[in-house]
Amino acid sequence: MSQTTPFTGGLYVITYGCQMNEYDSDKMASLLAKTHGLTLVTEPEEADVVLMNTCSVREKAQEKVFSELGRWEKWKKLKSNRVIGVGGCVASQEGREIRRRAPCVDVIFGPQTLHRLPAMIDEVLRVRGDDSIKKKKAVIDISFPEIEKFDHLPEPEVNGVSAMVSVMEGCSKYCTFCVVPYTRGEEVSRPYEDVLHEIRILAEQGVREVNLLGQNVNAYRGVMEDGDIADLAVLMHAVRAIEGIGRIRFTTSHPNEMTQSIINCYAEIPELVSHLHLPIQSGSDKVLAMMKRNHMVLEYKSTIRKVRALRPNLCLSGDFIIGFPGETCDDFKETLALVEELKYDRSFSFIYSERPGTPAAGFLDEEPMEKKKRRLFAIQELLNKQTADISDAMLGTVQRVLVERLSRKSFDQVAGRTENNRVVNFSGSPELIGQFVDVEITEALTNSLQGNLIATPEADSHIAPQAYAL
Ligand code: SAM
Ligand code: F3S
Repeated sequence: MSQTTPFTGGLYVITYGCQMNEYDSDKMASLLAKTHGLTLVTEPEEADVVLMNTCSVREKAQEKVFSELGRWEKWKKLKSNRVIGVGGCVASQEGREIRRRAPCVDVIFGPQTLHRLPAMIDEVLRVRGDDSIKKKKAVIDISFPEIEKFDHLPEPEVNGVSAMVSVMEGCSKYCTFCVVPYTRGEEVSRPYEDVLHEIRILAEQGVREVNLLGQNVNAYRGVMEDGDIADLAVLMHAVRAIEGIGRIRFTTSHPNEMTQSIINCYAEIPELVSHLHLPIQSGSDKVLAMMKRNHMVLEYKSTIRKVRALRPNLCLSGDFIIGFPGETCDDFKETLALVEELKYDRSFSFIYSERPGTPAAGFLDEEPMEKKKRRLFAIQELLNKQTADISDAMLGTVQRVLVERLSRKSFDQVAGRTENNRVVNFSGSPELIGQFVDVEITEALTNSLQGNLIATPEADSHIAPQAYAL
């Protein structure tokens, strides 16, 4: 790895896709800061190294990558020693094709090889400086060296009071519509002690909330020092014992991995938020079977019932795919009925996108796009209404808020998040940043809440957050 850096400008990273990609982009930035002295810049024109971290879950996201790369050709011409890299799931899936369509790209790396980025950039520079190499090729590494990546990433650096911690990678579920198992590889968990070590470092630097991340985070099976295997429940019990950590989230989960021990955590771990993101995709058993989700609607409902028995104020969110091949109007009505029954908070719904190489790409899909769009509109209308209902039901309640930053609304306000991830702005001193406080909700706006500070329970713990009736 380079100790002396040839770069004078900075690093520009553009990120598409999920929280895992955001996490990976942060890691790339801290890695390249360490190895090549690159600091993040806000404009690509100012950068010596420009990276795109891509997503290929839906076709639209993938198309965006190629149209963006068209613009990057221009930047390369403006500064010929600029290094351009493409990582993430599109890189993993398309590999060399990226270079064919965008000759400006120097480095192509996958989600599991981003830790090799410094060496790959050095190789680009070496080849560039070698006049005997006439045809300069892109440096490509999109292999799956399992969890090696985590051993080569720098210790976490904190920017804020909440941090994401990746605990497992990949997916072994192979839903018939999804590219993730092919682009990110099979499920691999980080060793238990490594995860705890990372969280301890974060907590020492002032982090109060951790979001345990994984494509199927509840499938976590981390090897412990004594050779035993820890599941997500064991991990969360250990995380709550780390001094300073006052709030735990986990995302995203698969219904089949919601074991009784994870469900019990809702009773045993007060630090675990009353919020669960549990995608079901469809409310029709027929569609679930075609998707190869390996569970039925009733099993999903039973899981939610069990969690809500322990946490009556649980906010549930999910992902829905509309217009999967073979989905009829009646199937869609079953999805709507499920959403009506379970009541969802801010959720994701998208029209099915055919992904090359997945089994569903070969399924007969006769439903016209117009019908699918009407269904999407209907479910989004219902989901938005349910989200607004939850915000309205929070009016007048006292919520525990982790204060994260100064408010963007007013200079004498601070902003934090509730357990169900809503931003709350309220008048308060910047000294509250990093503290859990109790705030009475006074106004529900479309994207945030307004409130009044009631108590600072870390000093005065007698007011507990109130449940809100839905
Ligand atoms: N672990 C999660 C689960 O149990 O479903 C899924 C993670 S997946 C990367 C994120 C979401 O992308 C899925 O829940 C699904 O709704 C959406 N998705 C994946 N493939 C898709 C496709 N081909 N078309 C539309 N949406 C898709
Ligand atoms: Fe994709 Fe299904 Fe895994 S949606 S990430 S294959 S659980």
